[in-house]
Amino acid sequence: MDKLPLKGSLKDAQLEVVEEAGIVHQDGIILEIGRFKDLCAKYSSSNFAIQLIESDVVALPGFVDPHTHLCWAGSRANDYSLRLQGVSYAEIASQGGGIWDTVTKTRMASDKELGELLISRVSRQLKNGITTCEVKSGYALNPEGESRLLEIIGSVNRECPIDLVSTCLAAHIKPKDFEGSQEAYLQMLIEELLPKVKKSKLSRRIDIFVDEGAFGVPEAENYLLAAKRLGFDLVVHGEQFTSGGASLAVRVGAKSVDHLEMIATEAIALLAASEVVAVALPGASIGLGCAFAPARKLLDAGCCLAIGSDWNPGSAPMGDLLVQTAILGAFEKLSMAEQLSAITFRAAHALNLADRGILKKGYLADFIAFPGRNYKEILYQQGMLKPNLIWKRGRQVS
Ligand code: NIG
Ligand code: FE
Repeated sequence: MDKLPLKGSLKDAQLEVVEEAGIVHQDGIILEIGRFKDLCAKYSSSNFAIQLIESDVVALPGFVDPHTHLCWAGSRANDYSLRLQGVSYAEIASQGGGIWDTVTKTRMASDKELGELLISRVSRQLKNGITTCEVKSGYALNPEGESRLLEIIGSVNRECPIDLVSTCLAAHIKPKDFEGSQEAYLQMLIEELLPKVKKSKLSRRIDIFVDEGAFGVPEAENYLLAAKRLGFDLVVHGEQFTSGGASLAVRVGAKSVDHLEMIATEAIALLAASEVVAVALPGASIGLGCAFAPARKLLDAGCCLAIGSDWNPGSAPMGDLLVQTAILGAFEKLSMAEQLSAITFRAAHALNLADRGILKKGYLADFIAFPGRNYKEILYQQGMLKPNLIWKRGRQVS
């Protein structure tokens, strides 16, 4: 994935494939990539252990999932069954299902239970080749509960080999037990939660769901600007059902705007002229049976496109980033280079991480290997070919 631009369309011919390759790494960092034989000769006098992979494999940078909601309890299988019978996501939410149902169950779950659920989900992510995974809070919706979720994400991050990047999504929806307006809820978060998240280093990122049934653009702007003054990176859930999120993300200088299923041409142009990453979430389109984000148009306009699984109990229960990337790629006609970039260095960029997503000197030794000789097999098998070898920060974990 080296020497590719952060923004815009890509052709497969731009991918650099090193045959008979080797990777030299030390202390979790890549020292050199090259021909295995040349590297063996060059490092023969030093004390490097040599590990020869005898079978044919294709190595890639570990995948980065830039958008998940993995810290929850309960199941929304009943919501899903209702949706299949024609009841909409918004209708289910207004009847007390939806996000609020997960909030109720998550609030009731113990730290231990939530920790175990999160560990099982992130372990599955790692097995699927995801070596860095963003995880949002957002299913407690009060200062104490949101801090608790961020603490649990932090402790699982310390315990498991995968890197977790936490994001505070206390502004997911206004909780039903908060008496007051959307503005008042956000103001309370500004006063009672954000300073604590900052001080206790619970997260460096603040997200908000800007949509009908969640938060409007003016109050979201005020909230995000307050978070920015405190030094947070900003993220917007936007343009899923109603417009306005993308231009808001550009105005406040967010790192990314995620969803974009219904983004219009003018907003695409705004995004393309900005540094904001466009994160498509095909898992939510599949989960809700809705259109995909216009990924082809976003790339052709010159946007930086990343893809996230959005794995959550409501709109995106599948949680398989590679399958979803391949499906979006098939429908939106994305080259393999565009698909792989969207889940490696471009996804890392959405998380403001410049040290991963490329196999290159100085980058993290996060790499995964798939069986076979041809990298094209990976997306051709539409996500069902799984990595058989995984290294995280130089340590083989699978
Ligand atoms: O990204 N859009 C808002 N939030 C999530 C859904 C969360 C849920 O339904 O529990 C999403 O799709
Ligand atoms: Fe989401």
